[in-house]
Formats: sequence, structure tokens, C-alpha cells
Amino acid sequence: MAALAGTLVAGTTVTGAGPHGGDPDVPRLDAPITTLTEVHAGLLLTFLLALAVLGLLWWRTGVPTDVWRRYAVVWGVALAQGGLGSLQYRLGVPEGLVSLHVLGSMLVIVATAALWCATRDRGPVVSATPATGAGSGSPATGAAGVPETERTGDTSVR
Ligand code: HEM
Repeated sequence: MAALAGTLVAGTTVTGAGPHGGDPDVPRLDAPITTLTEVHAGLLLTFLLALAVLGLLWWRTGVPTDVWRRYAVVWGVALAQGGLGSLQYRLGVPEGLVSLHVLGSMLVIVATAALWCATRDRGPVVSATPATGAGSGSPATGAAGVPETERTGDTSVR
């Protein structure tokens, strides 16, 4: 996540120093584009390296198919975005490719966020004490105010 955030910030500095950083009279970032682009691409490599390590760890421990599917999508969009970035750089940042590159950034963010969400999925919520009403926040109680599970001794998951 940190490497991706760094890649995005570095990309914005490349734009800030280049021809697409605003109207011609807008002051540009006073830094060499070549160096900024190298930092930008270097952070992408760090991101891909972290992704590869994560994949190896998951391969050893095992993760659900859905996580693998989303993992593959992140690789696909990140590599495509990297290829597009290199191409636009070599071609002198033509507007059309730069627009696609910005769109690609969004796809990389969405795919990475989707992968992150998949790793946070803990399955359906199960509770031994179903709530009685919206916002009650307390276990189901019987007529005497005694929780249902204590009164009946029924602790089965419903
Ligand atoms: C996952 C990979 C990448 C992501 C997420 C990414 C993201 C970004 C972002 C967010 C910007 C700023 C766009 C803006 O502010 O308008 C940008 C600009 C740029 N990126 Fe990347 N980038 C990636 C890979 C690369 C690579 C590998 C290269 C080239 C080696 C590259 C070259 C550039 C260049 C030249 C710009 C400036 C374009 C302009 O003139 O506005 N990018 N990138």
C-alpha cells in the first residue's frame, strides 16, 4: 500500500514538472523529469516486488480462490499501467496516452483496494444471541429480562 501510494505521489510530481501540469503560464515543479520518472518507476518496482512476496507467502499458507483472482487482476493492471507509462515516456508524453495513464492509475487503485478487501473478509457473522430489534445492542431477553440463552440453556448458533 505504501509503495503504491508512493508511486502515485511520484507520478503526480512527474506531471507537475512536465508539459501537462496546467496552463503554459502555470509555474512548473523545478526538478528534472528524468529523475522524477526514475523514482516513479522505481516505486512501481517496489510495489511489484512486495506483491510478489505477498504471493509467495499466500502460496505457502493458502488463500481462497477469490483472493487469487483479485491478485491476478492487480498484476494484470499494474503491468499494463507500467508498460503504458514507459511507452508514453518514450513517445514524449502524448496527451492521449497520458489520459489513459491516469485512467490506468485509477484501475490499479481499485484492483488493489479490491484485493485488500478480499483479504479482510471473515465470512458471514454468526452470533449465539440474535438481536431482538434494530439498535437494541443487547442479547435477546425473555419475559423476566433474563437473556434467552441463560434462561433456556440453549447456546446453539442460529
Ligand atoms: C502501476 C504503475 C503506475 C502508476 C499507478 C502510475 C501513476 C501515475 C500517476 C498518478 C501520474 C500522475 C498523473 C497526473 O497527475 O495527471 C503519473 C504520471 C506519469 N507517469 Fe506513471 N504510473 C505508473 C507507472 C509508470 C511507469 C512505469 C512510467 C515510466 C517509466 C510512468 C511514467 C509516467 C509519466 C511520464 C508521467 C507524467 C505524465 C504527464 O506528462 O502528465 N508511470 N503516473
